[in-house]
Amino acid sequence: MLGNFTYHNPTRLHFGEQAIQELATELQNYGENVLLVYGGGSIKQNGIYQAVLEILQANGKNVFEDPGVMPNPTVAKLNEGCERARTAKADLILAVGGGSTCDYAKAVAISAYCPTDPWETYFLRYEDVAPETKIIPVGCILTMVGTGSEMNGGTVITHPESKLKIGHVFGENVFPHFAILDPTYTYSVPHYQMIAGCFDIMSHILEQYFSGTDDNTSDYLMEGLLQSLIHSSKIAVQNPTDYEARSNIMWTSTWALNTLVAKGKATDWMVHMLGQSIGGFTNATHGMTLSAISLAYYRYIMHDGLAKFKRFAINVWHVDPQGKTDVEIAEAGLAAMEAYMREIGVVMNLSDLGVEVAMIPGIIQRTPILTGGYKALTPSDLEVILTQSLHS
Ligand code: NZQ
Ligand code: ZN
Repeated sequence: MLGNFTYHNPTRLHFGEQAIQELATELQNYGENVLLVYGGGSIKQNGIYQAVLEILQANGKNVFEDPGVMPNPTVAKLNEGCERARTAKADLILAVGGGSTCDYAKAVAISAYCPTDPWETYFLRYEDVAPETKIIPVGCILTMVGTGSEMNGGTVITHPESKLKIGHVFGENVFPHFAILDPTYTYSVPHYQMIAGCFDIMSHILEQYFSGTDDNTSDYLMEGLLQSLIHSSKIAVQNPTDYEARSNIMWTSTWALNTLVAKGKATDWMVHMLGQSIGGFTNATHGMTLSAISLAYYRYIMHDGLAKFKRFAINVWHVDPQGKTDVEIAEAGLAAMEAYMREIGVVMNLSDLGVEVAMIPGIIQRTPILTGGYKALTPSDLEVILTQSLHS
């Protein structure tokens, strides 16, 4: 372990079947005006909306609704939400949905009283929330897993006109105050979204795992999280209502990106930088933008981080090292990862997401190059990785 750090996670998390019963207690901590934020209506079909509304009303809250948060929430929707939050004089923003809804709720929370343009301030200029800016408290009721948004300070917003999708990871003051995680709420998630979420979890872990050469407790934790994810996701693909599998995936997802495993170590995040840029061009499902490029990326950088890729193969995929060179072991690990990806059925190439060769220069131009990974990349490296990802 190399780095010094302070660790504190301010989100109180209620987990398990019927965890929604904890909402009434949480509501006592806030004033009476609640902005209820949700997406395209799935919560009305699966009954979650009704359950939440009844608790809000039974606890004397004035409920103001902000529906229609789209996957990959936009700047225009954010501006609309700020207006609604101010009109409601919201004391609490209650997000009911997946990562998009939770991200959006956090963005509204810091933007409603931001004196300058929120998109330019927080996303283009990457400024922090000014100390004098009021932040509206956020609570999350999670209905789809993958992003970890329920217990982190991240928010990702898309500006479709400029094809820019930008994430900003804020500090503790932007974390949800509480999160309610009932694994049964995820049963109705469409198959495509479920497997995209599973790969998003895997990618979050790999982004933090494939970096650094120190001996770090976090790497051991991540090998455990990965094995639980691989095991449970294979079961969930076969039987989406297997509670044990869905609950393990949900909990793994939270731990993959609630800041713990990043403490005291370097991290990469280049797959996410590329994935977000692809998302800005295609509006594709986030997890699938990651699956489409991951193998090309990891095969490209493998020789620069060979020891870790070897360890990944042996500890996560149980590759037998006997009689193999280090390169062969590492390659076998990535082959096992590819077989797993094909088994659960994630998107394996960019063409399936609508990416065309002509888009590649624009995608590269919008991809920030980070330096925490095993290989210092140049724009021409990105071109090779993206081109190799076009077809599987
Ligand atoms: O809109 P509704 O009707 O809710 O339908 C959603 C949506 O169509 C549906 N869904 C969610 N729960 C459901 C359900 N359908 C049936 N039953 C349920 N129980 O699933 C679809 C996708 O939802 P969305 O929230 O978009 O998915 P996800 O959780 O993957 O969130 C993606 C967003 O999070 C960002 C991504 O970039 C993307 O914008 N991320 C946020 C991160 C963070 N805060 O740390 C990190 C991630 O890397 C990621 O970038
Ligand atoms: Zn992600």
